[in-house]
Amino acid sequence: MRQGPAVIDVHCHILPGLDDGAHTFETAIDMARVAVAAGILGIVCTPHHLNGVYRNPAVLVRHALADLRQRLLDAEIPLDLFAGAEIHLVPEVPSRVLDGSALTYNDRGKAVLVELPKKTVPRGTDVILGQLLRHGITPVIAHPERNLALARRPQRLAEWVDWGCKVQLTAQSCSGDFGERLQRLSRRWLESGWVHLIASDAHRPTRRSPDTLSVARACVAAWLGEDAATLLTLDNPRRLLDGEDLIALASGMRPETPPAESDWLRFVPWRRRTP
Ligand SMILES: [Fe+2]
Repeated sequence: MRQGPAVIDVHCHILPGLDDGAHTFETAIDMARVAVAAGILGIVCTPHHLNGVYRNPAVLVRHALADLRQRLLDAEIPLDLFAGAEIHLVPEVPSRVLDGSALTYNDRGKAVLVELPKKTVPRGTDVILGQLLRHGITPVIAHPERNLALARRPQRLAEWVDWGCKVQLTAQSCSGDFGERLQRLSRRWLESGWVHLIASDAHRPTRRSPDTLSVARACVAAWLGEDAATLLTLDNPRRLLDGEDLIALASGMRPETPPAESDWLRFVPWRRRTP
């Protein structure tokens, strides 16, 4: 039985045995049950790719996806699964996307989920993002709120959004499960209109689980209203799956005065303070 508003999860490590997400089909099935109970209609399966540890080329992901779909059918779990990948943003990404070995969202060839290292924005990142955009591929930046360099200098992220990149926050950052600092940061970025998607980035049936998306949705609804919450967790995910452009949060859904950059820095505790 589904509970809560319908949502679609566009970042989830549910495919078993491919990365640090679900290790077995049993775990994946448990994650699927948790997802359905939380109101999740569909999940984009996004195993890590090109991150120096895991290589999950498209052919392997498609095979694992077909297997898990069949298992869900056998278990009568009403959850749609879609193809995807979480691709580490290395210089080969544009060529791997164009030759088809790195999966785009729902295999549409329109958008890719890309992740940065945890602490830095490597030299060349602007070039890689620009190459993808010039080829008509929209980069969706996975959980930028968890990148220390972007937290220090969020204007960099705003520039990427101006170029046409899209932004996906992690549900647990919004809900406060990753701490008050990340929750405040997430809210500020939402209020600035930089965020297009919220996703679970789930790896397990508990703790880092798919149902965190519903908790985050409730937070966003309380901060920005129901329309904004629906846009970020259902409407834009649907558009992503259909290969359509994502919609930015309308100014009417946000506070009238976005925070100045100096406001951001108050929330960066590791910033060296001048006397
Ligand atoms: Fe992830």
